[in-house]
Amino acid sequence: MSEDQVVSVRVEDRIAWVKFARPEKRNAMNPALNRQMMEVLDDLEYRDDVGVLVLGGEGNSWSAGMDLKEYFRETEAQGLRGVRKSQRESYGWFRRLRWFHKPTIAMVNGWCFGGGFGPLFACDLAICADEAQFGLSEINWGILPGGGVTKVVVDLLPMRDAMWLTLTGELIDGKQASAMRLVNESVPLDRLEARTTEVAKLLLKKNSVALKFAKDAVRRVGVMTYDEAEDYLVRMQEAANFHDKTDGRKEGIRQFIDEKSYKPGLGAYDLDKAAGKPGQG
Ligand code: COA
Repeated sequence: MSEDQVVSVRVEDRIAWVKFARPEKRNAMNPALNRQMMEVLDDLEYRDDVGVLVLGGEGNSWSAGMDLKEYFRETEAQGLRGVRKSQRESYGWFRRLRWFHKPTIAMVNGWCFGGGFGPLFACDLAICADEAQFGLSEINWGILPGGGVTKVVVDLLPMRDAMWLTLTGELIDGKQASAMRLVNESVPLDRLEARTTEVAKLLLKKNSVALKFAKDAVRRVGVMTYDEAEDYLVRMQEAANFHDKTDGRKEGIRQFIDEKSYKPGLGAYDLDKAAGKPGQG
């Protein structure tokens, strides 16, 4: 029996618009959605026609978190085997998204609850609607924020804010989420897609190999000592030089110093002038 399609995908101008697509269930993540997200990421990750991935939600919700019926109750009824399988499926695509080969933007249009903080954190950048509502509802139905969610809020927020959301289960709107730095910025809902497109296009102008190495570095260095980070960054730049078949770093210096055609302080060098297309690393 084939599953309902609960993830939508559209690729346009090198932006992959991936959306949670169970609007009638407020885009709660059920096992089918978790499996389909993994397949979608698999399909998109190394495609040449995809430079940025945006994760949005169909309808008035981004994601109402894990599906309380299908993800929790029904898998628990299957015993530990069922529980562990559904956990692997959800944590699996969150992890895949955290280390996705292209930069990613969460475009939060509405509700974002509990388990939804997993993909929210997995995305490199996050832009939300002022009208969006975020909450750790777990405490309201009697559990702690698991599935990495407590780790997510502690990594993203100061302790008082993390504790507030965790213990009270109170909602915050988009503007509050932006002030708390849970997201990069908040804009009126009718500007959300346009602003997300602008940010995606900004990223598309950058060297794709540098983007992947840079985003990984931001996530990795936090748990390293200074010396470890210094060493990691030196070696990763050397690895990036190897993977970048366009020799982007030299081209960037050439266009500034010799050609004087741009200023790195004010924008990116012209990728099209480089020897070939930016390498996929
Ligand atoms: N798991 C399973 N089903 C969910 C769900 C979830 N997390 N969130 C919403 N749904 C379902 C509802 O059961 C309802 O199903 P039905 O039409 O078969 O009755 C449908 O989606 C619509 O939800 P409804 O509550 O009527 O929509 P609303 O717009 O009035 O409220 C929410 C939206 C998101 C505030 C509310 O649905 C809610 O509190 N959801 C649970 C959020 C949560 O705690 N998530 C778990 C985090 S781990």
